[in-house]
Amino acid sequence: MKAAFYEGHESIATGSCTPVNPSAGQVQIRVSHCGICGTDLHIFHGNMDHRVKLPQIIGHEMSGTIEAVGDDVSQWTVGDRVTVRPLDHCGACPACKAGHSHICMNLKFIGIDSPGAMQELWTVPAHTLHRLPSNLTLEQAALIEPLAVACHDVRLGEVKAGEYVVILGAGPIGLLIAMVTRAAGANVLLADVNPFRVELASGLGLNAVDARTVDLVALVNEQTGGAGADCVFEVSGAKAATETMTKLPRTRGRIVIVAIHPQPTPVDLFRFFWRELRLVGARVYEAQDFNQAIDMAASGTLPLNKIITKTVPLEGLAEAFREMESGGEVMKILVRCPA
Ligand SMILES: NC(=O)c1ccc[n+]([C@@H]2O[C@H](COP(=O)([O-])OP(=O)(O)OC[C@H]3O[C@@H](n4cnc5c(N)ncnc54)[C@H](O)[C@@H]3O)[C@@H](O)[C@H]2O)c1
Ligand SMILES: [Zn+2]
Ligand SMILES: [Zn+2]
Repeated sequence: MKAAFYEGHESIATGSCTPVNPSAGQVQIRVSHCGICGTDLHIFHGNMDHRVKLPQIIGHEMSGTIEAVGDDVSQWTVGDRVTVRPLDHCGACPACKAGHSHICMNLKFIGIDSPGAMQELWTVPAHTLHRLPSNLTLEQAALIEPLAVACHDVRLGEVKAGEYVVILGAGPIGLLIAMVTRAAGANVLLADVNPFRVELASGLGLNAVDARTVDLVALVNEQTGGAGADCVFEVSGAKAATETMTKLPRTRGRIVIVAIHPQPTPVDLFRFFWRELRLVGARVYEAQDFNQAIDMAASGTLPLNKIITKTVPLEGLAEAFREMESGGEVMKILVRCPA
C-alpha cells in the first residue's frame, strides 16, 4: 500500500509499505483524509529528527473507517467512522497519576514518535479513537484534531460569553480558536500579518486586522472603553506578538500561550505584576476537547469548509509543503489517502 515518508532533511517521498495487523487493543483504520499541520512542516525541516525514525510516515489530523480490530477490542467494529486523538501516554508518571495524561511526561505523539496517518491503512491503539457522527463528512472530520486544540485552549482560557478576546495569529489554529470563542458568545479580535489570512477571517464575519498597519493596543483600548481585553491568545509564535500580548489584557486578564516558542522569549513581566495578569499554557487536548470539537463540527454552525484551501493526493505532499511555506494564499491543505 501507499504511504508518504519523511526521508530526512526536507525530503518527502511517496512509497509503499506493509500494513500492520492490529494486535490486542489495537485497530486498523482505512485513512480517508489527513490535514497537513505546522508540526509536519517542523518534521520536514529536520527540527524533530531526534524523535522520528527514518523513513517516517507523518500525519495526525485524520479521519477514516475501521478496517480491522485486534483482540480485546469490544467497543469498535469494522466500518465505524472514526478520528484519532494521537496521544499515547504511559499511565505511570506523575503527570498521568495527577490526571494530566495528555501531557504525560513520557508522552508519545502518534505521527511523530511513531508512524502517522499518511498511509492507506493505519494501526493505532483503540483508546485513541473517537466516533464520528454520520452527518460529518470525512473531509470535515480531518479538522477535528486542530478544532480540539482550539477547544482546549478556549477551555483553559476560561472564556465566557460577553468577554473581549484577542487572538494573535490567524493561521488554522487561531482561526479555529476564533470560531470557538465566538460560539461561546465572546467578542473576538483577530490579528495577523498575512493579508490573505486577514481577508479570509473577515470573510467569515470575524473582526480581523493586519497587525502591521493597525495599532492593536490603541484599538483594543478603544473597543473596551480603556479596560483592555479579558483574554489574549498567542497563536503566532512571533516575537513581535509576544511583545504586544502583555500590553493588551485588562486588570486580572489572561494570556494563553498556544504557539510553540522553541527558544526562550523575553516577556514583559512587569505587566503581570502591575495588572495582576495570569499566564496560561495550553498543550494539545483531552478527550473532552475532542468530544466538544466533534459536537461543534457536527452542529454545522462552524464554517469549517472555508478553511480547507484544497485537497491533494498523497503524491502532492511535497508540493503542498512548498506552497504552505511560500506564505501565500493557503490555510489548511488536506491529503487524500485512499488506494
Ligand atoms: N498548543 C498546542 O498543542 C499546539 C497545537 C497545534 C499547533 N500549535 C502551535 O500553534 C501555532 C499556530 O499554529 P498554526 O497551524 O495556526 O500555524 P501558522 O504558522 O499557520 O499560523 C501562525 C500565524 O501567525 C501569523 N503571524 C506571524 N507573525 C505575527 C504577528 N506579529 N502578529 C500576528 N500574527 C502573526 C502568521 O502570518 C500565521 O498566519 C504554531 O506555533 C503551532 O506550532 C500548538
Ligand atoms: Zn496538528
Ligand atoms: Zn505518563
